[in-house]
Amino acid sequence: MIETPRTRVALLGSTGSIGRQAVDVLLGLRERFEVVALAAGHDHATLAAQAAQLSPRVVALADPAARRSLALPDGVDLDDSDDALERMATRDDVDLVVVATGGVVSLRPVLAALRRGAVVATANKETLVSGGHLVMPLARGLAARAAAEHGTAGLAPRPAAGPVPGPVDDPAPGRAPRPAADPVPRPVDDPAPGLAPDGGVPPLPPDVARSPLAWLRPIDSEHSAIWQCLVGEDARSVARIWLTASGGPFRGWSAGDLARVTPAMALAHPTWHMGAKITVDSATLMNKGLEVIEADRLYDVGLDRIAVVIHPQSVIHSAVEFADGSVKAQLGHPDMRIPIQYALTFPDRRPSPAPELRLDALGALTFEPPDEDRFPALGIAREAGAAGARASAALIAADEVAVARFLAGTLDFPGIARLAAAAVERFGDGPDPDLDGLIAFDADVRAWCAAAPWRTPSRSIAGSSGETEAAS
Ligand SMILES: NC(=O)c1ccc[n+]([C@@H]2O[C@H](COP(=O)([O-])OP(=O)(O)OC[C@H]3O[C@@H](n4cnc5c(N)ncnc54)[C@H](OP(=O)(O)O)[C@@H]3O)[C@@H](O)[C@H]2O)c1
Repeated sequence: MIETPRTRVALLGSTGSIGRQAVDVLLGLRERFEVVALAAGHDHATLAAQAAQLSPRVVALADPAARRSLALPDGVDLDDSDDALERMATRDDVDLVVVATGGVVSLRPVLAALRRGAVVATANKETLVSGGHLVMPLARGLAARAAAEHGTAGLAPRPAAGPVPGPVDDPAPGRAPRPAADPVPRPVDDPAPGLAPDGGVPPLPPDVARSPLAWLRPIDSEHSAIWQCLVGEDARSVARIWLTASGGPFRGWSAGDLARVTPAMALAHPTWHMGAKITVDSATLMNKGLEVIEADRLYDVGLDRIAVVIHPQSVIHSAVEFADGSVKAQLGHPDMRIPIQYALTFPDRRPSPAPELRLDALGALTFEPPDEDRFPALGIAREAGAAGARASAALIAADEVAVARFLAGTLDFPGIARLAAAAVERFGDGPDPDLDGLIAFDADVRAWCAAAPWRTPSRSIAGSSGETEAAS
């Protein structure tokens, strides 16, 4: 019997919410994956425990003080260099990089991994929201190279023209006609500019490697759902993407009630168990706004073809509507281990540690349009996404600071969207930044948002009606 070589994995952000679930998945798939590298920020105890379970060759811990308490098993090296993440992502013995960090810290390693021709599976939103203009050309270049070597392209680009479907509440939306574009990529001298000439580390099957999604794989449950719906489809027949949102814990609340939301209330998500930042983002709907931008960068269908629908049960993770009126959806238990595993095993499926979904026990699945007046983050994100990379990068950087300030009590709940909108307005104009420019820009936006005076409740976040100007 011929043994298939195991895929060698670097996991960046292994101690966080996504990272720990990725470890869970990897432990269940030991015959298929070998964990070569693990990286975390400061949680030395969890990192040491993961190193004992997975026996990686190398680990990294960003916080120098925490490193002193890191007790590693024999045979595991510590990389304490400043560029440890990039070194891990570009190791010769790494085929697949899983990105489970927050912020822009992994952008440089992601770009370096793709340039080398490694596969990247990312949960990280900044990779696409801030860096979509940098990462997607590399993923498309890898796909184009595979197409040039093996035949036609898998995921064709967005059609240049053609009617788009009506708005969400349009009772009879039009269908995007099938454009008459040539599906065969034009011959080009170098189908993969900027990539290592002998890139393409993992032995991806030719029919799989022709899609950019084989190289840059989304882990976010909604984008995984869309990806799963698109497999086997001609991307040019997509009429609309339906991104589902749980609506968070405050669906139906009045503006007055929203002004009195406390961190504890925002952290109690009704269906998903996630990290604190993304849980608050779900409550403001900023998470969905960022996902609209992510979907636009990943699938290139145009922002006007990405609709959001509130689906409180979080069973349908998103859907794709096609030109013929068919809608394909992906369903599953709300458990991130399913999309994490799909990004690892694509195009195969394996048994998962997630609970099964019993359709006969589900009851009703409901849908309603989002209320963008009471949850303005969605509209702010759409405008930032349309404005380009700078505005999108300003939005996601500002949101992270705004959420931190809300959790620390220096900003009220509606202030999260207000501060994010102000940052987009202040920083959003200008050309798309390159990588170094983007990292400096991100720091500038964060510094401004951290210092910006803003209206916060005068007594406590909960139960106060008076407001005052306060700096953080
Ligand atoms: N949680 C979810 O269910 C979910 C769903 C979809 C998408 N996402 C996205 O996935 C990303 C991660 O989310 P999360 O909820 O897992 O975040 P999280 O719980 O805050 O985890 C972040 C991870 O990054 C590590 N980290 C921080 N700074 C680092 C550095 N300089 N070098 C290496 N590692 C570093 C942290 O290490 P320490 O803990 O040791 O500091 C931790 O392991 C975010 O972009 C989020 O929006 C999350």
